Amino acid sequence: MQIFQNISKLRETLLAFQQKSQKIGFVPTMGALHQGHLSLIKQAKAENDVVVCSIYVNPTQFNNPDDLAKYPRLLESDAEMLRSVGCDILFAPADTEMYPNPAKIKFDFGFLETTMEGKFRPGHFNGVALVVSKLFHIVMPHKAYFGQKDLQQYLVIKQLTNDLSFPIEIVRCQIVREENGLAMSSRNKRLSSEQIQIASNIYKALQMAEKMLKTHTSEQIQSQIEIFFSEIKEIELEYFEIADAYTLEGIADLQKHSQPKALCIAAFVGDVRLIDNLWVEN
Ligand code: PAF
Repeated sequence: MQIFQNISKLRETLLAFQQKSQKIGFVPTMGALHQGHLSLIKQAKAENDVVVCSIYVNPTQFNNPDDLAKYPRLLESDAEMLRSVGCDILFAPADTEMYPNPAKIKFDFGFLETTMEGKFRPGHFNGVALVVSKLFHIVMPHKAYFGQKDLQQYLVIKQLTNDLSFPIEIVRCQIVREENGLAMSSRNKRLSSEQIQIASNIYKALQMAEKMLKTHTSEQIQSQIEIFFSEIKEIELEYFEIADAYTLEGIADLQKHSQPKALCIAAFVGDVRLIDNLWVEN
């Protein structure tokens, strides 16, 4: 695996692949890799000639400086994991390389960036869109892979790709779960083994809600989920939403809604904030 910190050296190397019309698959990450990330690399590997992974803890998407400071930085062990699944190129730039001057550009994704995660993390999706645009311009991949766990991020990136006409296919990748159902996340490293068991209730709640979709109203499901979590004192539910899976708008009549639905949860287990979702086709 080749490792680059420098944008122009990476571009030079990628140009050779582009000139041979080889397909480049790209997996952007912030490191602290787990099996979920590796599944994206494996999928990219199966569908392209060359796989590029970026590891960059992007300061512009953190609205809490403490979170940014605490974010795990594990470049060596991450690189080892990437090698183990055959990643070809790792791009791990420094802040000075990505942001030689403070960026001023602002995006507006309307409702998509103000609901759910957007409500709790103002400015977050602007920072994500900014860094992903930069990375797309640098890597110029054919396909880019995003985990469905960050569903709202995936939808923002789809919108970004459409609005800026990036010639890139955005691939939504399945959530990878622990055996008990807990969605894999870099944040799980901060949970005790007891908390990991407790956190599996988030997935249980999503499954319970999915079962009710065909027979109950949004309000009924909402109140069942609230009751479910009120009985688990170690979990604090931040939100549960049933929404259209493409727009994240609320759904007036569940049974009449013909588009896929998204069931989304954010909850705290101790001081660790977890998110999860189910994508339900009709
Ligand atoms: O999902 C992530 O890890 C980040 O938000 C991303 C897409 C790499 C942008 O920094």
